[in-house]
Amino acid sequence: MSFVGGSYIPATKGKRINMSRKAVMRRLEGLGFSWLPPKLKIAWQALKTKRKMDRQFGRHPDPFNYEGSQYERMRFEVMEEAVGGGFQKALEAGCAEGHFTQRLARHVQELTCLDISEIALERAKKCAPNAHFILADLLSWQPPPKERYDLIVLADVLYYLDRPIVAAEFNLLFGRIASWLNAGGRIVLAGGVGIDDEPTLNNRKSFSERFQKAGLELVSEKIAVKESGVRCLVSVIEKPF
Ligand SMILES: C[S@@+](CC[C@H](N)C(=O)[O-])C[C@H]1O[C@@H](n2cnc3c(N)ncnc32)[C@H](O)[C@@H]1O
Repeated sequence: MSFVGGSYIPATKGKRINMSRKAVMRRLEGLGFSWLPPKLKIAWQALKTKRKMDRQFGRHPDPFNYEGSQYERMRFEVMEEAVGGGFQKALEAGCAEGHFTQRLARHVQELTCLDISEIALERAKKCAPNAHFILADLLSWQPPPKERYDLIVLADVLYYLDRPIVAAEFNLLFGRIASWLNAGGRIVLAGGVGIDDEPTLNNRKSFSERFQKAGLELVSEKIAVKESGVRCLVSVIEKPF
């Protein structure tokens, strides 16, 4: 197979078939991935997500309309309340362009923010100049040895990683994230849910349940609702002393 100017061209007997990259990806996915080593599966999924997010953020700033959306403002207020205050070290995974980071930075001494999109991170840096920014895939990222956090914010990010190809690694992620917390540390987990969308609500609740299975305790759970009916599940989960 050769690669020419944006298209893969599989060599067949005398024939050249033009296939878009998307078509190649779909064809490979159709073959199933059980034969791929875990590292390659993670890399594949990360590449797909990165391309998708860079495309989204590359079109124009604020693709999720944080600036104009009353729902997002309400969600951030509920999340900020769930965060509380007085934390030394915090990690925000999936910080996007830093709209919530800006608020979070007021409550913590040292803030590390991680995202898979370079375009988003460049914008986020302007929102919280004192924070430390990392370009990485949450599924494979590891904090430096002995680094522990008092607060970890995971808002509207875990469902991007919840894909069949990396199901095993995604399951392990909950225990890994729990191990990055100091005793008494807190996770603020938030996930948007559509109107009357109970399967999605249950999926978001399952994330919190997996943290509980990893030894953390659910402290509170709040469903914030906008008049339109769009909801956001915000869970506060802590690591016992
Ligand atoms: C919908 S935005 C949420 C932003 C913010 N946390 C909030 O609550 O508004 C999701 C963000 O997660 C990032 N993301 C998605 N998959 C990721 C991954 N595997 N590792 C790191 N970041 C990821 C995306 O690039 C995007 O910036």
